[in-house]
Amino acid sequence: MNRRISDRISYVGVNDHHKVIFEGLWPLPFGVTYNSYLVRDEKTALIDTAEADFSREYLENIREAAEGRKIDYLIVNHMEPDHSSLMKEIREHYPDITIVTNAKAVPMISGYYGITDNIKVVKEGESLSLGSSELVFYMAPMVHWPETMVTYLKEEQTLFSGDAFGTFGAVDNGITDSDARLCGWLDASENCFAEFKDEMTRYYSNIVGKYGQTVQAALKKLSGLDIRRICSTHGPVWEQHVKDVVSYYDRLSRYEAEKGVCIAYASMYGNTAAAAKALAAELAGRGVKYSLHNLCTENVSYAYRDAFKYDTIAIGSPTYNNDIFPPAYSFMYGLCARLVKNRKFLAFGSFTWAGASVRLLNEMAQKQGFELISEGISFPQGYSQEKCDMASVADIIAGK
Ligand code: FEO
Repeated sequence: MNRRISDRISYVGVNDHHKVIFEGLWPLPFGVTYNSYLVRDEKTALIDTAEADFSREYLENIREAAEGRKIDYLIVNHMEPDHSSLMKEIREHYPDITIVTNAKAVPMISGYYGITDNIKVVKEGESLSLGSSELVFYMAPMVHWPETMVTYLKEEQTLFSGDAFGTFGAVDNGITDSDARLCGWLDASENCFAEFKDEMTRYYSNIVGKYGQTVQAALKKLSGLDIRRICSTHGPVWEQHVKDVVSYYDRLSRYEAEKGVCIAYASMYGNTAAAAKALAAELAGRGVKYSLHNLCTENVSYAYRDAFKYDTIAIGSPTYNNDIFPPAYSFMYGLCARLVKNRKFLAFGSFTWAGASVRLLNEMAQKQGFELISEGISFPQGYSQEKCDMASVADIIAGK
């Protein structure tokens, strides 16, 4: 893969096709990247590092990209270990390297890696000359941790954005969006942004989803910069699709969604599942987009993705211990924790002797500010079309 992004910038990050679950939570069907970049000038600056398992490959990438130069600076934009855990190895290989970061990262660097010396602390808007070019630092707290900052290389209108504008998915074929493909064995789709969009939505909703307000603040702050290239910590380098990616992150962080329904259900004996499938069939008959997620068998990552993608969320849960069935509760709790808003909502589910799940889901939804499509469909014992009038609900959703 061509790692040279420009005369000054090389990609030195790595593809991870091995990890199955990211952060111990989120599946990686297409892998993930840990992006790091080397900026060459009279001085050289390394932007972030990579995940601990990739030490040998990462150090070799740096050695090649450095072309014999020493590495002067390690810019630490973000301390989450997927980007910082090779910091100690970098210090061992380049003992004179100066770590450049902001005050909030300093105790994290000490706490994670025991490094306390040769750290240069920068503030909002401060710059660092590399010779003929200059790096400027902007704080972006809670995108995704409190110490997060971004780094702007003025001479190349390049933003090293940390997790912002990132996506799941390893990057095969090439690192920039002219060449990058989500996975070598997939057909190339019409463009890189379209190909990565679902994995970007999943990444955003799973990991950054709670921080819409702070993403908005960061977007506002960065709107004054002329950005020609975005080098995120995950996924392709955006050059052709900078506008698409910024505008999509803007939409996601405002919780804007397209028309459609995320149907997520949990079922013990198939009755709530039958109701979910009946709803899906009625929506399909009316040409309404939907996705169907079985919360008992599928990682919840995909349901979160579609709860951010679609403007309507329908949750199916039987009543269990006079409560919401745990997988459905966990999903609903996760939506609330991610501060999801501006959604229409439907609860449905079966009970045997006393219904509670639909009422309790509705209460959570109302607290969250969701608009209830109806009072919900709580039905006794087995599923039947007569007990579950999904046709009427689908009419409302379709606007009939
Ligand atoms: Fe990819 Fe927040 O780290």
